[in-house]
Amino acid sequence: MDPKHHDSLSVSPRVQRLLSSHRPAHTLEGELYRDPEVYQCDLEKVWRRGWLFAGHSCEIPEAGDYFAMNVGDDSILVVRDESGRIQAMHNVCRHRGSLLCDEPCGRVKKWVCPYHRWAYDLTGRLIHAPAMPDSFDRTSHGMKTVSVHDVEGLIFVCLAEEPPAFAEAFELFGALAKPQGFRKAKIAKIVDYHVKANWKLVWENNRECFHCNSNHPQYIKANFDHYNIDDTSPQIRAEMEAAVKRSEARWAASGLAVSHKQTGMTTFPDAERNIWYSANRTALVDGYLSETMDGKQVAPLMGDYRDADVGTLRMRALPNFWNHSSCDHGVSTRLLPAGPEATSVRVYWLVDKDAVEGRDYELSALMPFWQLTSEQDWIICERQQRGISSSAYAPGPYSPYKEYNVDAFIRWYLKQMESK
Ligand code: FES
Ligand code: FE
Repeated sequence: MDPKHHDSLSVSPRVQRLLSSHRPAHTLEGELYRDPEVYQCDLEKVWRRGWLFAGHSCEIPEAGDYFAMNVGDDSILVVRDESGRIQAMHNVCRHRGSLLCDEPCGRVKKWVCPYHRWAYDLTGRLIHAPAMPDSFDRTSHGMKTVSVHDVEGLIFVCLAEEPPAFAEAFELFGALAKPQGFRKAKIAKIVDYHVKANWKLVWENNRECFHCNSNHPQYIKANFDHYNIDDTSPQIRAEMEAAVKRSEARWAASGLAVSHKQTGMTTFPDAERNIWYSANRTALVDGYLSETMDGKQVAPLMGDYRDADVGTLRMRALPNFWNHSSCDHGVSTRLLPAGPEATSVRVYWLVDKDAVEGRDYELSALMPFWQLTSEQDWIICERQQRGISSSAYAPGPYSPYKEYNVDAFIRWYLKQMESK
């Protein structure tokens, strides 16, 4: 292991003090959301260790198609090789360290370094190194590869030399995502956001729908999760339970997997068992067939669906992915750390690959539901980051009824930071 990585594995006494001063069931100390040293620890302990959602395999359908992603200071290339397999590698030349590729996406036949023209094939093997002696060993100077999995069209990468187990996540996402047909999808639209908030605040906000009633007027019309057992009237609860029961019976009959119950999770994440992925299919409010402004289907059915009434498929994976998919489109969100107080967020809208814009769908009908909901969330996160930066900020308490998943996220985070 190189010395830079080795040194940064240990948390400094100062960061250690900040972590250990955490009061259970409260938000973190302010510096944990904005301090550069803490940010470096987050990169090392979370982002360079876990499985990261990179993108969709339909973004790179042909050999040589690639996209780049930045994880802190690391630039990663994800490319389809000549055999059709997806490869991921560090975007760093093994000669004198230049970045090999400046473009965010494109198509190449091979990687050619712009500096002195060392060249690598699509698996990262060094194939050309001008002006080196015969004794030079090309085989030990390939691009550094990164572990990669393609789960039903969802690409995950891991920068760690020894990645954590992926088999269970593979099985769960595989079973739930297959009927959605991401392999046979296309990107209808990508929107990138620079959110001025620490990545942990973006997750905390994602982990509760306590804020939904006052911030997401569109989302709450379609979904049940802004309700909670402690404040839901018997009538609404009965409606919810009936909708869920009806839907689940129908989905089970048509062979659609419905839930993550097989993992036995009561919160997401499960900090104690270190479970960082989950997926489930859930009912929409009666009259909603899709997460769209009026609940109507706005694009052709995706994947294996033969009936529009499939609720929403929801998937999530820490530290950087969530997806909500309806019968006719899917929306993925990818987070990447962009500094102590900033997160790069990419939102993808996907439809069936044969759907034609203007004929089968309109972006003006496809996008607003999740565009509005996402942008409402970024405003929330940026406002919270501002408040946390104030000298008046002190950690505040989570509601045990509404924010148990936020607390679970914080416990998961602290556990990652404790790990050796
Ligand atoms: Fe890439 Fe010299 S740094 S060829
Ligand atoms: Fe929200």
